[in-house]
Amino acid sequence: MLTNENWQEFAASRRSTRDFLPTEIPAEVLHDVLTDGLTAPSWSNTRPFMIGIAQGEKRDRLSKALVTRLGNSAELPGMGANPDFTHEIPYPEGLIERSMRVGKGIYDTLGIDRNDSAARFRFLERNYEFFGAPTALFFFAHRGLDRFATMDLGFYMEALMLSAKAKGLGTCAQGYLGNYPETVKEEFDISDDYALVCGMSIGYPSDHPINSWKAERLPIEELIVGSSEN
Ligand SMILES: Cc1cc2nc3c(=O)[nH]c(=O)nc-3n(C[C@H](O)[C@H](O)[C@H](O)COP(=O)(O)O)c2cc1C
Repeated sequence: MLTNENWQEFAASRRSTRDFLPTEIPAEVLHDVLTDGLTAPSWSNTRPFMIGIAQGEKRDRLSKALVTRLGNSAELPGMGANPDFTHEIPYPEGLIERSMRVGKGIYDTLGIDRNDSAARFRFLERNYEFFGAPTALFFFAHRGLDRFATMDLGFYMEALMLSAKAKGLGTCAQGYLGNYPETVKEEFDISDDYALVCGMSIGYPSDHPINSWKAERLPIEELIVGSSEN
């Protein structure tokens, strides 16, 4: 039976996976995971998003095109750079420090010196190789529902990630996979009403140490304003 304790333990056990085995996900398992995402709530039950699935040749072709696109870029993309939305999101003060702690944790675990730009670039490239995962998902939100479309997509993604975790799969939501919408849209027949938001690598986690690194959890008090006492 599901108890509060085992739910908390399970939810806390979901962590981003950044190194995958090449093992394919059985079609019925992937279908179940994608369906379980629909347990999430949605604005007026509209489900204002679409999901692109890249596997096999499509996956390899898309990965190659994205790595080439990255290599041809005059500047390295920021995680929020996406011409389908605001072109570049500069990190606001107060939030950039949190982001930098994630970068440091990942680079330290991988033994990458922060001044080693070649090694940092290689890690960036790994994002576009889907960290070795056999399947990549791309998420598009309907432009017409503005913020509610991206919110609903986020709820869907979290439900999907928990379902994947329950089935022994790992996931990594990836803002970087939203950087080049025109390249991604070449592989998916999708109306321009939908904007590419981000992507996700999904597959069976390897035993690489990066998968054991744990991003910090902020004390909830840092995020709460006001209190019932005043
Ligand atoms: C919308 C979104 C975009 C993300 N983009 C990336 C990405 O491009 N590359 C990456 O390695 N991790 C990415 N992440 C993973 C976050 O770094 C991770 O969720 C965060 O550090 C908390 O760690 P956890 O997922 O292991 O709990 C992204 C997460 C979200 C929700």
